[in-house]
Amino acid sequence: MKDKKAFKPCDLVLFGALGDLSRRKLLISLYRLENAQLIEPDTRIIGVDRHAHDNAQFIDIAHKSLQEFLNEAMDEVVWKRFSSRLAYLQIDLTQTEQYKLLKSVTDSKTRVLVNYFAVSPFLFKNICQGLHQSGILTEESRMVMEKPIGHNLKSSKEINDVVANVFSEKQVFRIDHYLGKETVLNLLALRFANSIFTTNWNHNTIDHIQITVAEEVGIEGRWDYFDKTGQLRDMVQNHLLQILTFIAMEPPVNLEAESIHNEKIKVLKALRPITLNNVEEKTVRGQYSAGYLKGKAVPGYLEEEGANTESTTESFVALRVDIDNWRWAGVPFYLRTGKAMLSKRTEIVVYFKQLPHNIFSDSFRELPPNKLIIHLQPNEGVEIEMLNKIPGIDEHIKLKKTKLDLSFSEAFKKSRIFGGYEKLVLEAMRGNPTLFLSREEIEQAWTWIDSIQNAWQHLNAEPKSYPAGTWGPVASVALIARDGRAWEE
Ligand code: BG6
Repeated sequence: MKDKKAFKPCDLVLFGALGDLSRRKLLISLYRLENAQLIEPDTRIIGVDRHAHDNAQFIDIAHKSLQEFLNEAMDEVVWKRFSSRLAYLQIDLTQTEQYKLLKSVTDSKTRVLVNYFAVSPFLFKNICQGLHQSGILTEESRMVMEKPIGHNLKSSKEINDVVANVFSEKQVFRIDHYLGKETVLNLLALRFANSIFTTNWNHNTIDHIQITVAEEVGIEGRWDYFDKTGQLRDMVQNHLLQILTFIAMEPPVNLEAESIHNEKIKVLKALRPITLNNVEEKTVRGQYSAGYLKGKAVPGYLEEEGANTESTTESFVALRVDIDNWRWAGVPFYLRTGKAMLSKRTEIVVYFKQLPHNIFSDSFRELPPNKLIIHLQPNEGVEIEMLNKIPGIDEHIKLKKTKLDLSFSEAFKKSRIFGGYEKLVLEAMRGNPTLFLSREEIEQAWTWIDSIQNAWQHLNAEPKSYPAGTWGPVASVALIARDGRAWEE
């Protein structure tokens, strides 16, 4: 193992081992961790699902998944090492007595039991009971789960309660895969390791902040899940609010999980509620119609396979968010996210305030503001837009907008950028809770989201249409234009 800080080996049990999440993400991430020699040599990976397979068949499925979803070539030596960790158990997850089978393959004396719930939440109760009754859980055991952790505050509490019956809060690792992204973590470094930003990060210098999470993909085969969910619950409740808390939180006293969680919760508590009184002016819901993406015709949301043509679920959301605290008073955060948009782009743009007086009116009638642009994905990097004098011996000073451009792939040529899941699966095996969500955080986020969702329900308005392959409905331009501002294009 490369990592100097060795940790106790695990019995990593993947519940739902044959499902999409496991095959597309978890097995791929685990293979990459193996390749980077970051998995403890004695760690074992136990796939659990209801189909009748043996170890060899599961290993074959894992091999096929890697061939299909791993973007790089497979290394035979690494595969051999990796496959020797794999085992399979057939368990009908609804039958609690069958969990006893796990006893024969796990060893709580030498390995920590890490239970990854890669299944629909309706099975969580069964899994928790089954694990409890089997007697294999110890105080060291962990459980890992990820969204959807409910579709509103009530259902989220129900899931958390079911889990809390068996696991204490410190044993629960709730994943938001955005917190495993290098660039999201870099927000901590950018903000709290650079004095030029720490001293300028408030309402005195910042005019407003934009967060865009645009996706090219449409719903493609996930219509049934997505239509009950919508973009507000699918993306804003978790990923966008997580990015927002990282940008807006106060400096934590250290990097311990509790310090970071506390600061994030304070931000979530300070979000000004969006209710029936202000929902029309602060939100836009959109739904894509047929259009073109990179020259290819794509169907509209209502024409996707399996679609209910009457659906009014949103595939796009734009919001004006206000944070009612000392630091951010008067600084709006504009959030937008959508499916089937012009290009994949996740970025934060911090607009600094305009200067009070312009002595360069020969160049600009109004001086453009400085901007800090943080590219979260793709082309990870940080840019600062600033004004410079155009070189020359003219009588007048002429200015031009220029960029300080830091591309991560250029600046860190020798470092490998790991994917979100790799980072988080590793941290779950290490038992480090810093990058996982606390129960309070999730419930606070749902409280704020529920208020928007309820207001929308009362309004009962159709979503605004936007052609696939664009930046969303015209109404989202109006949302920000009302404040005399424009989206970063
Ligand atoms: C998931 C959502 O959580 O995040 C998907 O359910 C979305 O709808 C995905 O496509 C986006 O993740 P990423 O890492 O591609 O930005």
